[in-house]
Amino acid sequence: MRKPFVAGNWKMNKTAAEARELVSQLLGPLMDIRGVEKVLCPPFTSLFAVASMLNDSGIGLGAQDMHWEEKGAFTGEISPGMVKELCNYVILGHSERRTYFGETDSMVNKKLQTALKHDLTPIVCVGETLDEYESGRTSEVVLRQINLGLADVAPASASRIVVAYEPVWAIGTGKASSGENANAVHGQVIRPALSRLFGEENAQAIRILYGGSVTAANASEFFQQPEIDGALVGGASLKAEEFAAIVRAAGR
Ligand code: PGA
Repeated sequence: MRKPFVAGNWKMNKTAAEARELVSQLLGPLMDIRGVEKVLCPPFTSLFAVASMLNDSGIGLGAQDMHWEEKGAFTGEISPGMVKELCNYVILGHSERRTYFGETDSMVNKKLQTALKHDLTPIVCVGETLDEYESGRTSEVVLRQINLGLADVAPASASRIVVAYEPVWAIGTGKASSGENANAVHGQVIRPALSRLFGEENAQAIRILYGGSVTAANASEFFQQPEIDGALVGGASLKAEEFAAIVRAAGR
């Protein structure tokens, strides 16, 4: 049995003061929900403020990205050690990183290797663009992202990885995938690829999340699906009530 997992990706939203305010609204409702691994991913500038509020709450903290080098002359970047000081999770290879900041599968792989070395739980994002979807290339694109992004990982560490399938056409558009479509990509493309890389038993232990316009209204459609182990939530994670409702749905 894979434990349901829900992470909120705040993206470039909330100042530290606003982040504290949102966390103070989220704490009570989220702490009441059992049986779900819950993670908040605010911007770097809010991690410190949020970390102290989450002590003993059972709610995890994640960064939205990080560099793969340990330290050095990389202006503007954040190292794995800096992330690990405050967080236990890190989102890697989000489609916005790939699209706007030129992140490649090989960069995602370097980040993944370092995350595992630092005992961070990586949430690795994959997913096809609208063009790729419409031209029937979903499997091809997702397979490439998995095979290159997750290359050279020891099978024994693989079960710590969380994969998020986020079709780019569904992110922030209000046009979520159907539960059935996402379940098919998880079960027919991603998990078999994980099984070829890490063996069937390890592959069965890896959580595969859906992301892309998840709301309180559509969350259970995804969580009912056998191959969908949770969600990576963007816009709806900025509203306390709505995010709590999504996490609650994952626990049912
Ligand atoms: P969304 O974003 O929920 O706002 O569509 C999801 C994501 O990008 O992780």
